[in-house]
Amino acid sequence: MKVLAVNGSARKDGNTALLIHTVFEELNKEGIETELIQLSGKVIEPCKACWACGGKRNCVHKKDLFQEIFEKMTQADGILLGSPVYTANISANMQALLERASVVTDMNRNDNLLQRKVGVAVTAARRGGALNTLDAMNHFFMLQGMYIVGSSY
Ligand SMILES: Cc1cc2nc3c(=O)[nH]c(=O)nc-3n(C[C@H](O)[C@H](O)[C@H](O)COP(=O)(O)O)c2cc1C
Repeated sequence: MKVLAVNGSARKDGNTALLIHTVFEELNKEGIETELIQLSGKVIEPCKACWACGGKRNCVHKKDLFQEIFEKMTQADGILLGSPVYTANISANMQALLERASVVTDMNRNDNLLQRKVGVAVTAARRGGALNTLDAMNHFFMLQGMYIVGSSY
């Protein structure tokens, strides 16, 4: 079993990464393989609404890391999304990743690319907006027909 984590923070190895590693520790104890992709220093372009991904199972644009990340998402058993709160929401890089992934899965609906995988979201905040940020990532999981993992506070 493998869980892929994506950290949408502009800061490599910052607070969001700390939270992701806390989850990884528990997963590793259970023998679950983990991989972390940090978007810091990289730019994920937004969806161009070209709809060319229909029947292709991935975005057709190769300018950035999206294709590689999405391929790994489809291969993983679980997806851990981490984003710091930026202006009471997910980071722009995380938003771009999720909007493109959503369009690819929608345009290839019969392939169930992320359906029934397990999803969990973590966020790091300074003051406010954490609930909205978690909600944005959880909505992505729900849109995919994924199972969301809960926890206690
Ligand atoms: C562009 C930007 C916008 C932010 N907006 C918020 C915000 O709306 N609410 C908040 O509580 N923190 C906000 N923060 C603070 C970060 O969420 C906080 O410092 C977080 O711990 C950073 O996580 P990181 O170390 O993984 O980057 C913002 C930070 C940045 C850089």
